[in-house]
Amino acid sequence: MVDPVERKVTPEEQQIRENPPAHVAIIMDGNGRWAKSRGFSRIRGHRAGAESIREIVRSAGELGVGFLTLYAFSVDNWKRPRREVAALMNLLKRFLAGEERELQRNNVRLWTIGRISEFPPDVQHAIDAVVKSTAGNTGLTLVLALNYGGRAEITDAVRALCEKSARGEVRAGEIDEALISRSLYTADIPDPDLLIRTSGEMRVSNFLLWQISYAELYVTPVYWPDFRRQHFVRALLDFQKRERRFGGVEPPPNY
Ligand code: FPP
Repeated sequence: MVDPVERKVTPEEQQIRENPPAHVAIIMDGNGRWAKSRGFSRIRGHRAGAESIREIVRSAGELGVGFLTLYAFSVDNWKRPRREVAALMNLLKRFLAGEERELQRNNVRLWTIGRISEFPPDVQHAIDAVVKSTAGNTGLTLVLALNYGGRAEITDAVRALCEKSARGEVRAGEIDEALISRSLYTADIPDPDLLIRTSGEMRVSNFLLWQISYAELYVTPVYWPDFRRQHFVRALLDFQKRERRFGGVEPPPNY
């Protein structure tokens, strides 16, 4: 079926579609500063940020990106004022309910990483419902990092491996990088090729610490609520110009 609102693909977008990255991860930063610069509440900044998520998810799917991981709530975000945390939970629930149809329409599958079991039960149900209803989709996989921390993830993996070892299911000598990767929340997800951070801060903020070892970094001063398709396209074009050597002197064969 031809989508009546399908946009014309620009030559730059076509260039990306010919060799899209398998996995793009984004630290969506700057909602608060975006709001402050306009005299709005921080919560309004988050609401505007949810609009950017909508547009970037759609764009990533259209550009052929395989996985898009968005840092939506970190293990440290509980330290924010209670009202802001409650608003973020509400926004997440509203986003899931409101976006479900759009995700289906665009063949997007939703996954999550993080300690979801620490979220309020109603939020967990809302997440589960959309993960289940989109499980059969075959286009983009949208991975929401929720109550996520890179150190927490590694801690959980070490704990799981120790438990397996105590049960005699794994020996210390068998623990290698591949087994650690398979023990992380991201076991079924390729490592990110590109990590984008909005709003100009030069930090990785406890995001995908193990997985970004060889990711290309792209930092833009644009605040997340202003980050739109054209900014995403610019980041992907910049990524295509990078020469990745993975510690060697030349790009690996078949890369
Ligand atoms: C950082 O902005 C952003 C977050 C705390 C997480 C991202 C949240 C959203 C995009 C809201 C919508 C989320 C969903 C899943 C619907 P900040 O508040 O740290 O910005 P600042 O550094 O300028 O204060």
